[in-house]
Amino acid sequence: MLLNKDKSILKLIPKHPIPRYTSYPTAPNFHSKIDQNIYKKWLKNTNSKEKISLYIHIPFCNSLCYFCGCHACVVNKYGPIKNYVDYLLIEIELIASKLKFKSKVSHIHFGGGSPSILKPNELISIMNLIKKKFKIIKNCEIAMEIDPRFFPKGDLTKVLKNLGFTRMSIGVQDFSLKVQKNINRKQSFKQTKELIDHLRLNDITVINIDLIYGLPFQTIKSFITTLNKINSLKPDRISIFGYAHVPWMKKHQKLIKGKILNNEERLQLYRLASDYFLNKNYIAIGIDHYAKQNSSIVKKLKNKKLQRNFQGYTEDEAKTLIGVGSSSISSLPDGYVQNITYIPNYIESLKKNKLPILRGRKFKYKDKMYGTIIKELMCYLSVDLNEIIHEFNKENEPNIFFRELFKVKPFIDKGFVNLKNNILSIRPEARPLVRTICSSFDQYFKVNKNKYSLGI
Ligand SMILES: C[S@@+](CC[C@H](N)C(=O)[O-])C[C@H]1O[C@@H](n2cnc3c(N)ncnc32)[C@H](O)[C@@H]1O
Ligand code: SF4
Repeated sequence: MLLNKDKSILKLIPKHPIPRYTSYPTAPNFHSKIDQNIYKKWLKNTNSKEKISLYIHIPFCNSLCYFCGCHACVVNKYGPIKNYVDYLLIEIELIASKLKFKSKVSHIHFGGGSPSILKPNELISIMNLIKKKFKIIKNCEIAMEIDPRFFPKGDLTKVLKNLGFTRMSIGVQDFSLKVQKNINRKQSFKQTKELIDHLRLNDITVINIDLIYGLPFQTIKSFITTLNKINSLKPDRISIFGYAHVPWMKKHQKLIKGKILNNEERLQLYRLASDYFLNKNYIAIGIDHYAKQNSSIVKKLKNKKLQRNFQGYTEDEAKTLIGVGSSSISSLPDGYVQNITYIPNYIESLKKNKLPILRGRKFKYKDKMYGTIIKELMCYLSVDLNEIIHEFNKENEPNIFFRELFKVKPFIDKGFVNLKNNILSIRPEARPLVRTICSSFDQYFKVNKNKYSLGI
């Protein structure tokens, strides 16, 4: 049963998909006119004094989860992984050769796929090359996404520790066996707890856990059991993603049986998880993250230093994020570029010594303005439009946001959004509406009604 406030929220959740706004303009607006020559220029333009951050994409997994929306594939042999890493190293060399100076790196994130599939030797080669080509600053945060079902412990843990990894992001999704069987991901609580204990014992103490709501067969009862188990693990951060069902793009999602949950069911699970962790004294970060009160990301939130990028919410303040590996996206002061997704083509490009760029997007002046508004709303649920007008020299256009604010009016009328002195703030209980409200400021957003409902 929904509470009255959620009944009103449900009515405002659209029946069409809404972007997750990990970038603005969003990835469907990227185009192939942005090529390696443009990327080279943008790399040259990066300010050598400013810190940069690196994202390393490892697109391999040991087993296919049917829900997965990531750029990942399953391999049974190590050969293709070793081969991929050889080209990843070439890509790092190529990128470093285009930068004017040895850049300072403040954050390195290994994502995927499951980067924990790498053998110590490959991990050491990648990190050694990064150390050679970049200056890693003292408190650089080094993080990795890991699949607990196949984490080998032993040597890999020692290597991670010696290489300075500090944060591990662990996929769980749901502990209900019925849900797990249906998504082809059997993962016991015991297995997950043992891994977290093992990491903590080895001084890798910052633990994030990923959950998903909206999977078939999830019920309030089964999800509470999952939440209790997660809470007992005392993670520093929890991400609770809404299941993105996109079978026209990710064909394996058709293997999922059972009814895809509707917006009402999704909202119930969202609210359950949100109330649960807020009652356990976690702090809500943006739309779908929860962090322990004393965690560093909460300080960033309070000091308004939070960022949102392709990995979600991050403490990393670097203005340049360089993505390495197939499908990875880089964000530079001039725009975005995305690498080739199909691994053989990614490798082919590097064989020719060409940066493997698929597409991208150059920022227009207004993109930065609307991007800032969307980022503020996604991070802090609030934006001071006077500050935006001042920052982007729009003082001569006092009604510049008239059209966008008109779209926000239904949310104001229902009391979920407040507009006072040109400060737009979304009430905390209306977090499920944040993406929809952001879409009012998205100049490229088009409703696509043919797709499944993904409003929340
Ligand atoms: C690269 S995976 C995490 C690491 C590791 N591969 C694992 O699964 O344990 C990143 C996270 O994305 C989320 N994710 C993947 N596919 C999703 C989908 N279709 N909808 C929502 N979240 C999804 C999952 O929570 C997953 O843990
Ligand atoms: S959820 Fe993680 S382990 Fe499962 S297929 Fe996707 S990337 Fe691989």
